[in-house]
Amino acid sequence: MLLILLILLNRASIIFMFIYVFLYIMTTSHNQSYSRNEIKQHNKEDDCWIIVKNKVYDVTPYLNEGIHPGGDEVLLKYGGKDATQSFTDIHSNDAWKILDKYYIGDLNDTSFISVLKNMLWY
Ligand code: HEM
Repeated sequence: MLLILLILLNRASIIFMFIYVFLYIMTTSHNQSYSRNEIKQHNKEDDCWIIVKNKVYDVTPYLNEGIHPGGDEVLLKYGGKDATQSFTDIHSNDAWKILDKYYIGDLNDTSFISVLKNMLWY
């Protein structure tokens, strides 16, 4: 009985490892990556970065154009922060396409929870 349990546990951990490696490879690119601490510094009108789904966007040019339908304040409010929830809640496919233009790299957070959350949650 104990042996069967051990074999099952072993199988589960091997499957778990494969899933983790698969998710890691799928979501990690070799682009420039930034830490949350570094991103946090970019929270001003003339230097505004946001995180959406583990990707980093320098939205300063968009902010400076003053064309955001939701206003500039809300962009500034999320400057240097993770805007995933708000962005995914509110925006259309068109907005995602606009956002793409400002992509500068990835968040260097590849913890299992973070990878899983971004793949399944939003
Ligand atoms: C560069 C990043 C962003 C881009 C390109 C963008 C783009 C857009 C676009 C195109 C719309 C019009 C509706 C639509 O097509 O979805 C919109 C509306 C809106 N956005 Fe953003 N957005 C950005 C960031 C944000 C962030 C971080 C927030 C934070 C909550 C936000 C809040 C809103 C709100 C509240 C509206 C609705 C305005 C209304 O209907 O009165 N946006 N955005």
